[in-house]
Amino acid sequence: MPTNPAAKRRILTGDTPTGRLHLGHYVGSLENRLRLQGEYDCYFLLANMHAFTTRADKAAEIRQDTIEIVKDWLAAGIDPERSTIVLQTEVPAIAELTWFFAMLVPFNRVMRNPTLKTEIESKGLGDTYSFGFPMYAVGQCADILAFRPDLVPVGEDQVAHIEMCREVARRFNQLYCAVDPHAQDEEHERLGGVFPVPAALVGRIGRLVGTDGKQKMSKSLGNAIFLSDTPKQVKKKIGAMYPGQSREPDQPGDPDINPVFDYADVFVKDEALVAELRERYRRGDNLGDGHVKAYVIDAVNELLGPMRARRAEYEGPGGDDAVIEIIRAGTRRANSVAEETLALAKDRMGLSFGARRDMLGL
Ligand code: TRP
Repeated sequence: MPTNPAAKRRILTGDTPTGRLHLGHYVGSLENRLRLQGEYDCYFLLANMHAFTTRADKAAEIRQDTIEIVKDWLAAGIDPERSTIVLQTEVPAIAELTWFFAMLVPFNRVMRNPTLKTEIESKGLGDTYSFGFPMYAVGQCADILAFRPDLVPVGEDQVAHIEMCREVARRFNQLYCAVDPHAQDEEHERLGGVFPVPAALVGRIGRLVGTDGKQKMSKSLGNAIFLSDTPKQVKKKIGAMYPGQSREPDQPGDPDINPVFDYADVFVKDEALVAELRERYRRGDNLGDGHVKAYVIDAVNELLGPMRARRAEYEGPGGDDAVIEIIRAGTRRANSVAEETLALAKDRMGLSFGARRDMLGL
């Protein structure tokens, strides 16, 4: 395959530009992306088309959110020299595959997708959402399969989408590539399928609780610590967390109902220290809640410190332009892979009537 000379296996994942990324994104998916960046040929998609499915009236915001999310990625350590940043709306093959895939999924199957259902509820979409809204779930299959990846690192909430994508890949391979319906998922490509049946890779923490200690961390719930928060903001947000109970430092407490300990488990690297804190908390061994929080605040700031420094490089004048240049270069690379996929798919569907460049009169 000319687009993948090193024959590295591929990863694709993406984020919808709806605002800045937070710690939930980091432990749910970003961390995995960073870890696998050297090992895999990585594609990170800016799902700006998806943003329009619920915010078609907010074009200017979506544009700025798209740029901000790239800054978050770069800050977190995504390296545009090694990984490919892809702008969804400039990859026409994704839109075309979406159409073909829409014919391979029953309408009711799409509407039963639990992630869509949850979103309709949490975003209060009622029954007035656009036709394009449920369509995005099919679009997401195309986002993924356009790059024929093996792995899709995502947060837990996305697993239902990946499951649908796997169904689409199998169905396509069976219908158009004569892959046996009983074939194992891992065998599809070897048996001549255009698409691998990609696997979801969920981060070490599928669901990180928000600073309210109740719901999943989410920008819209106002309980998020953003990757771009200042040390002061981190201190304030964690400092204000309710520890799940009211106690004095010398009274026994229950660390398991204290969300600050959830954060300690995730962000404080010294596991022995966390175990000791839990034990002292249980016994009421002179351990105040402020004390536990201080460890967590330090740990989070230690994680975010290098990100703040890298982000600063793109925050001055010319920063947005530098980001746009990175988006352009990545999307160009991405199109060569996605076009190749589309040509393979159309060929199997009996749709190869001539070269695309020729058809476009180029
Ligand atoms: N729907 C995903 C989200 O909101 C973003 C996304 C779009 C995505 N296309 C993707 C994730 C493809 C993984 C693979 O988080």
